[in-house]
Amino acid sequence: MTIVDRRNAVAGTCGEAEIIGGKKVKAHSLPHMALLYNSKGDPVCGGTLLSPTWVLTAAHCIQSMICTVRLGVDTVNNSKTDGFVQARKVARQYQHPCYNADTKIHDLWLLKLSQAVEETMALKYLPLANTIPDPKEGTICMVAGWGVVNVHIKAMSDDLMSADVTVIKRETCNLTKYNNTKYTITSDMVCAGTVDENQDVRDTCQGDSGGPLMCNGVQVGITSFGIGCANRTKPGVFCIKMCLKHF
Ligand code: ARG
Repeated sequence: MTIVDRRNAVAGTCGEAEIIGGKKVKAHSLPHMALLYNSKGDPVCGGTLLSPTWVLTAAHCIQSMICTVRLGVDTVNNSKTDGFVQARKVARQYQHPCYNADTKIHDLWLLKLSQAVEETMALKYLPLANTIPDPKEGTICMVAGWGVVNVHIKAMSDDLMSADVTVIKRETCNLTKYNNTKYTITSDMVCAGTVDENQDVRDTCQGDSGGPLMCNGVQVGITSFGIGCANRTKPGVFCIKMCLKHF
């Protein structure tokens, strides 16, 4: 499949976001997490390290000119001095050829690093599975990122956070109550959020985009969009299976 080289994309921002209702991830225990920085050196999106030179993230992160990727990061503040961190420039960028910013379909982007990173105890590759499962309704999955943790303080989190979210059926997620009919949840997307009313709301938010949705230890998608953050009936939407498989 042809891929579009977006090396000359315009600068902008991804917006700010964080994991809502999550907990701090034990340092270096998610060694495939990538942190993406814009041209000003601000962290803007997450990603997954697929191999020594490829990072998967969200196509809408193109709103920022992604210049640097850091791997093996624990806290943003320590990312320049932490000996576990390996930083690389972005050499090439390939947006999914069918990404549509209006419908949010195929929200995927591959970044090729200027130089290979090395696997260590704090940095590991997470290749995509050959067949990416479509997680069933009710499956508990994990999301992670340095995005917004408090909807009132719209800044990236210093700590890497993670949270468990529950998969919601597409039919349910397509109801007006859930997505304002603003977007259609296609078979390439999955909704996941907080379904138990007795539990605090857990969600991804600005800045978590591009980070992984992990179900039973397998990456099935990436954080893509949502209507606001941490609203029980407006769950996070993840780009999944078909779009990953066909990339
Ligand atoms: N688009 C956001 C980003 O750029 C991710 C938003 C996820 N929103 C949500 N409510 N789950 O980081």
